[in-house]
Amino acid sequence: MPKIRAGIVGVGNCASGIIQGIELCKRGDKDAKTLGNTKIGAYRIEDIDFVTAFDVGANKVGKPLSKAIYLGPNMVRWTGSVSGCEAVVKESPVLDGVGIYVDEKIKPIKSGRPIAKIKDEVMADLKSTKTELLVNYLPVGSQKATEFWAEVALEAGVGFVNCIPVFIASNDGWGKRFSKAGLPIIGDDVKGVVGATIVHRTLARLCSDRSVRVDRTYQINVGGNTDFLNMKEQQRLESKRISKTEAVQSMLTHRLPNDKIYVGPSDFIPYLGNTKLAFIRIEGTMFPGIPFNMEMRLEVDDKANSAGVVVDAIRYCKIALDKKVGGPLIDASAWLMKHPPVSLTDDVAKEKVSEWVSRPV
Ligand SMILES: NC(=O)c1ccc[n+]([C@@H]2O[C@H](COP(=O)([O-])OP(=O)(O)OC[C@H]3O[C@@H](n4cnc5c(N)ncnc54)[C@H](O)[C@@H]3O)[C@@H](O)[C@H]2O)c1
Repeated sequence: MPKIRAGIVGVGNCASGIIQGIELCKRGDKDAKTLGNTKIGAYRIEDIDFVTAFDVGANKVGKPLSKAIYLGPNMVRWTGSVSGCEAVVKESPVLDGVGIYVDEKIKPIKSGRPIAKIKDEVMADLKSTKTELLVNYLPVGSQKATEFWAEVALEAGVGFVNCIPVFIASNDGWGKRFSKAGLPIIGDDVKGVVGATIVHRTLARLCSDRSVRVDRTYQINVGGNTDFLNMKEQQRLESKRISKTEAVQSMLTHRLPNDKIYVGPSDFIPYLGNTKLAFIRIEGTMFPGIPFNMEMRLEVDDKANSAGVVVDAIRYCKIALDKKVGGPLIDASAWLMKHPPVSLTDDVAKEKVSEWVSRPV
């Protein structure tokens, strides 16, 4: 079977989740289905191999990936061990990757080595391992670090799956650079399988479809992992708020003014761990000018939510490499990401993606 040789940037909870999820698929877990199902084109989930990995945690750098995914502050424990994944986690430049609240937990390596030297080693590693695409799982607010890794992808000639809300696929300049290089990119900011964004979008779309007016809406999210702790730092949050808010606004018949919509990560509650709680409220008006409201509470494992979508994103990116399609993958990004280059309704995006996969090269 053809294999997919992927690299992972940021060996945190999401990385741990996707690797443990793939391991469960390898063991034949029948429930391990995803949006695109068990096979996309020629590729099964268990065809994904992580052959390179990069992080800054002093405890993770230098360790085999199979061990590093279980080291603190990671907390995903879906299975006690994983097969393969013997790639050694290599050092990444810290840049703006580590925020003030998570510094004590991540304990970034202080090697003092110049960025140019680290980059040379990264390039050599990607080449020797024949890495085909990189998955970006850096913390929210890592603008410079994400740009470093997008630049690396372009120079190394590999695809890019950008799971975080730093705008690369949806940025015109970066998008054009990936097109010019003939390299696929899917982004930005991964949706969950059944996450707060997709639920909120679906409810907003329902209101539009039933011709009722949405007057006000909010979505409050809380969790207890480093992702949520990092997001307590308001300065790191700007693009996350834009990404999440736009994902809902784009489903409304009439855009709401900024003071009538609140969508965002809201607090860190340590004992929740990887459990994420989302509280969604929509207030509106229906025929003949009568108010209504609805509220819903979602409780979900945040990392399962991400892993189930990213195993698909990786396979779409690989298919684009096989088809020699470069630039932002518009339909796949609209289907899988919160802030795609072009927003489509989820049903339209899904149909276009499956048509694209089955179209002969
Ligand atoms: N459902 C989801 O979990 C979901 C959905 C959408 C987006 N995301 C995003 O995915 C990203 C990863 O989430 P997570 O829960 O794994 O976070 P995490 O905090 O568990 O992991 C981040 C990892 O990045 C590492 N890191 C920090 N700076 C780095 C640098 N400069 N270079 C390399 N590595 C660096 C940290 O050491 C840590 O291991 C976050 O931005 C999150 O918002 C997650």
